[in-house]
Amino acid sequence: MADIYQSLLNSNLGKTLLNAANLPVPAELERHNQSQTSFISGNVLVGAAPGGRLSEVIIRTLSDAKGAHLQYPDASSARDEIVKAAEKAGTQITPIDANAEAARFKGLIFDATGIENTSQLRALYDFFHPVVKKIQESGRIVVIGLPPESLKNAPAQHIAQRALEGFTRSVAKEVGKKGATCQLVYVTRTAEKQAESTLRFLLSPKSAFVSAQVLRVGKAKADGEEGFNWTQPLKGKVALVTGASRGIGAAIAEVMARDGAKVVALDVPAAKEDLQKVADRLGGVAFPLDITDAQAPAAIAEKLKAEFGGVDIIVHNAGVTRDKTLAGMPEHFWDMVININLSAEERINDALLSAEAIRAGGRIVCVSSMSGVAGNFGQTNYATSKAGVIGMVDAYAPILAKNEITINAVAPGFIETAMTAAMPMVMREAGRRLNSLKQGGQPVDVAEAIAYFASPASAGLNGNTIRVCGQNLIGA
Ligand SMILES: NC(=O)c1ccc[n+]([C@@H]2O[C@H](COP(=O)([O-])OP(=O)(O)OC[C@H]3O[C@@H](n4cnc5c(N)ncnc54)[C@H](O)[C@@H]3O)[C@@H](O)[C@H]2O)c1
Repeated sequence: MADIYQSLLNSNLGKTLLNAANLPVPAELERHNQSQTSFISGNVLVGAAPGGRLSEVIIRTLSDAKGAHLQYPDASSARDEIVKAAEKAGTQITPIDANAEAARFKGLIFDATGIENTSQLRALYDFFHPVVKKIQESGRIVVIGLPPESLKNAPAQHIAQRALEGFTRSVAKEVGKKGATCQLVYVTRTAEKQAESTLRFLLSPKSAFVSAQVLRVGKAKADGEEGFNWTQPLKGKVALVTGASRGIGAAIAEVMARDGAKVVALDVPAAKEDLQKVADRLGGVAFPLDITDAQAPAAIAEKLKAEFGGVDIIVHNAGVTRDKTLAGMPEHFWDMVININLSAEERINDALLSAEAIRAGGRIVCVSSMSGVAGNFGQTNYATSKAGVIGMVDAYAPILAKNEITINAVAPGFIETAMTAAMPMVMREAGRRLNSLKQGGQPVDVAEAIAYFASPASAGLNGNTIRVCGQNLIGA
């Protein structure tokens, strides 16, 4: 369903009318395109609280963004570390030009890992207060901290690090009208090297509809793969994508193929024709199958082993809704939704693991939903299934880590697909606008987040659920 409100905005008259009526005017979000050679372009201000541990990783990551002009705040007492890191990386960094009133920033990055108590939280104010208004459209703000739960013997530091969440979520609400985003990344001590894929994703247009998220980067055995390159991160990988004939699944398949993966696109036999078209377009393989069939898990494991010697990436995207209030819900609505959205995924994981079909370095990425995070009227069945998906990620992450396999989930908010086009008009319009970015997301936004988790460079991400919802105002 076309976003009529957004189309109105594309005309000057429409914009004037909406402004006059005091209605939200959503910013046009910048998205990734293949001609972009730098994952972030423009002025990027890098700051740190004294004692921060991430300067080197931030600078090393940004040194690959050829379009970024790095600056440091003159007042920062940690600037020596940032300048030293830039010298080491051979990257140019200049002091912020305090006189340049018109200076604007595409990125603001603050390393808060050195904050040890609540009075030191003042460093956030000192860094962001003078510059937050200067964030550009589709700008990126990232704060880096230490996971509070890792600070067992340091309650003062635990409290201060936990406080970062409130700060970042509030900043996200303040900058959302510009299409800008703000996130918090907790990086475990000694896992600093693993933070690069997260910084790249969050600073790039690939995270257009991701805001106010808290990601946790942990230690990983794998320290990067030979021949890895950031433009084709999935080269040589085999990716199974369920529900791939249309909507979000087709976008996931497309992004996986763009990033170099061989895609095995699965969907119900009734969608065979569309599925074949997706597979043909991407040089992949169509696999028509109902994932709830009793034989499906074994058939999937068998095919992946026989044709590809195994699988590297599994994306559990297939899903359905059958909405009714609980009192009016027929039992088959309940059974069907739990079975497709949750139980079938568990059975497929079990079959793939027991057949040892997932290669070391494997990635399982599941599609949950904002409903699973916050619940939704008329969706007891769906929300149960999607909260269960988050549970699956929590439960499996430590088990799979032993085999160097990760599992993470993406929880989309309102995404423009056939599923949301079928919603009643008023609910659809409310769903679109009730987020900090004041618009619905695109299937590609979900796909980019999945590709980020699927990357070999994301070995340190395990057990995360990231919302792709533009900071939906419902729920956390
Ligand atoms: N669109 C949104 O706003 C939104 C929001 C949150 C979560 N999601 C989730 O994203 C995923 C994709 O949603 P979408 O909007 O693209 O929906 P969609 O209905 O367009 O696509 C879902 C696909 O899954 C396939 N599928 C359903 N049952 C299957 C089965 N038994 N075996 C194999 N394939 C099956 C369907 O044929 C379809 O192609 C779903 O898991 C959905 O719950 C969507």
